[in-house]
Amino acid sequence: MPYTRRETFLPFTRPMIGQAEIDEMIDSIHSGWITTGPKSARFEEELRAYNGVPHCLAMNSATTAQEITMQLLNLQPGDEVITSSLTWVSTLSTVVLQGGVPVLVDIDPVTLNLDPSKLEAAITPRTVGIIPVHLTGLPCPMDEIWAIAGKHGLWVVEDAAQAMGATYKGTKMGGNPRSVMSVYSFHPNKNMTTGEGGAIAFFKDEFLPRIQRLRFHGIERDAWKRQSKEGSVHIDVAEPARKANFMDLQAALGLHQIKQLDGFNVRRGQLFRRYLELLKDVDEVMLPYAGDDVHGHCFHLFVLRVLPEKMGLTRDEFVTALKEENIGTGIHYRPAHVHSYYQDYYQNAHPHAMPQEGLPHSEWSGERLLSLPLWPGLTEADQDQVVATLKHVIAGAKARIAV
Ligand SMILES: Cc1ncc(COP(=O)(O)O)c(C=O)c1O
Repeated sequence: MPYTRRETFLPFTRPMIGQAEIDEMIDSIHSGWITTGPKSARFEEELRAYNGVPHCLAMNSATTAQEITMQLLNLQPGDEVITSSLTWVSTLSTVVLQGGVPVLVDIDPVTLNLDPSKLEAAITPRTVGIIPVHLTGLPCPMDEIWAIAGKHGLWVVEDAAQAMGATYKGTKMGGNPRSVMSVYSFHPNKNMTTGEGGAIAFFKDEFLPRIQRLRFHGIERDAWKRQSKEGSVHIDVAEPARKANFMDLQAALGLHQIKQLDGFNVRRGQLFRRYLELLKDVDEVMLPYAGDDVHGHCFHLFVLRVLPEKMGLTRDEFVTALKEENIGTGIHYRPAHVHSYYQDYYQNAHPHAMPQEGLPHSEWSGERLLSLPLWPGLTEADQDQVVATLKHVIAGAKARIAV
């Protein structure tokens, strides 16, 4: 078929908000409980049941959730936490904000996730924990990570921001007590959304009152009960803390989103595999790993790597060319250490917090990666258009090289 340019812009993702979510939000508005209330509590119950964890507390974002995990673990100035650079910067910044030092290890170039064989070399007497990031919704090799953490007495906090619905050996991310806590995100780009939002999953009962307190002004009990019959007259502030409320308006979305999540993820998986099939003969790009029985992908992102050496366009030029053809894409992510703050941090302030040889795989992939449109409502016709456009742009670029 001859190539035709798409008439309207196709974004790289869209949230799937249906009438049930809209009705539930309107119901919240009518009920008078707009902020944290009974629907937030019900949503947390749903999160616990879905992920198979005894405790799960929701808040305003995964970033705040990560901040709270670091505070709860009592990270001290100079404490080192090992993670990967190919992540959203909040994974690092929440460590830095608490006074810790994020120590970077390179990724496995096949999975884009932290390479566990690099961990031991990064451990020093100051190391306290590891934050594996399940990038793109593909679980990290957790057995290897837990074994090394156990051997060295380190905690593991999973950054499962992109991994709601992903499984490791059949267990949902966050559902294994070998990780002390795990964090999810419900940002609109994620596989399910509450507008903004995040949560911490954990097993230890003693964490419950402290996290409740750390997400709400240092006040121990649920503030919303203050205005109900069971509430006492006075509140008590036990420590200074942030305000990171999860609202019933958000829960109104989440209660319906979580019911659809497995269905959403099945559809994402079908589209992911269809991309693999449609692109299998395109030598100018490298296709993503689809996971296996151990690493159960939730297909958050379809990240391919553009090979400029073969197509004659850099990734950024390719993004621009696709945009001109009305195809939106995403970059997840530029490695954290190339952002200006972290360039200075690793080059000057903390040169020991990165391997001497640098992070060649993170940098190689970081310059080439690109997320193609993927969400459950993407049609096969949309997908065919993405693939046709991609091939058209590559053919144009190669024709220019040949001249
Ligand atoms: C790997 C990773 N960690 C953390 C976050 C932060 O999530 P939030 O936007 O809910 O704060 C994101 C969000 O994009 C992410 O992709």
